[in-house]
Amino acid sequence: MRIRRQGPSLVVDTPAKLNLFLEVHGRRPDGYHDIETVMVSVDLYDTLRFTLLREPMLQLSVLPAVSRGAVPQPQIPVGNDNLVLRAATLLRERFGVHKGVRIELQKRIPAQAGMGGGSSDAAATLAGLNRLWDLGLASQELHSLAATLGSDINFFLDSPLLAVCRGRGEAIEPHLLQTRLSFVAVQPERGLSTAAVFRRWEGAPGKTSCEPLLAAARAGSSLPALYNALQPPAESLYPELKTWCQALSSAAAGPALMTGSGSVCFAVCRNPRQAARTAAWIRQRFRLSAWPLSSSV
Ligand code: C5P
Repeated sequence: MRIRRQGPSLVVDTPAKLNLFLEVHGRRPDGYHDIETVMVSVDLYDTLRFTLLREPMLQLSVLPAVSRGAVPQPQIPVGNDNLVLRAATLLRERFGVHKGVRIELQKRIPAQAGMGGGSSDAAATLAGLNRLWDLGLASQELHSLAATLGSDINFFLDSPLLAVCRGRGEAIEPHLLQTRLSFVAVQPERGLSTAAVFRRWEGAPGKTSCEPLLAAARAGSSLPALYNALQPPAESLYPELKTWCQALSSAAAGPALMTGSGSVCFAVCRNPRQAARTAAWIRQRFRLSAWPLSSSV
């Protein structure tokens, strides 16, 4: 996440993520699932502009993502259940803030994609308003607030290059990533709801280890097979995902998988040039949104 002053406003660029590994350890009594996932920050950013208002009001306007292909991006709801407004409301109520804010959100990260767009925006809101409203909250306090809002928000508060996330996803352990990774990602025609995909997950708690992946990331060697325990439940809701992953894998000549709870699928590429070429080919051939992506801060 990058925060900068621009005149009277604060501007925050906040990244998307890809899950290189995701294991589900079981359903919890609170309805969530215990997971172990390896996430990498990638260079597709939403931008949020925060401007102080003297009146105690929260205003949010969203500029929708521009499609990089022919699939129109869904409208982002700007009602009170929008995570950006929930994050701002939480700060105002918890700390008795009497100032207001106008938030302009430029979306680039697709919704219902498994790329963490909503969570990334919420993290940017917590960090941005902490500065704009002079709240002076320490990182640990921001992390406790983030965990009450959702499972992926903690990752984006620090947006490490690579991290293992456990618990519901909120317990973050940053790891070394020796080389810049290149990916190509494609957005199928339909999105998927995280809750719906988790509801479909069944079976014994998984035991696959992310250690081989972390060892490769530390050593800067090529990545071993990717893994996502949510892929079968997602495919049961959206069978075409299998076709997309196979097409991507052969186009990029590397392993391909769905990210998070989907529906975006991605493949590992040899370098940024190959990623750009493959994304352009997918956009042209299938008229879908596709991006070349790199691991990034
Ligand atoms: O935490 P977040 O709001 O991102 O999660 C959305 C939904 O996904 C939850 O309401 C829950 O149904 C499901 N979920 C889950 N286990 C997780 C994370 C999310 O069951 N670890």
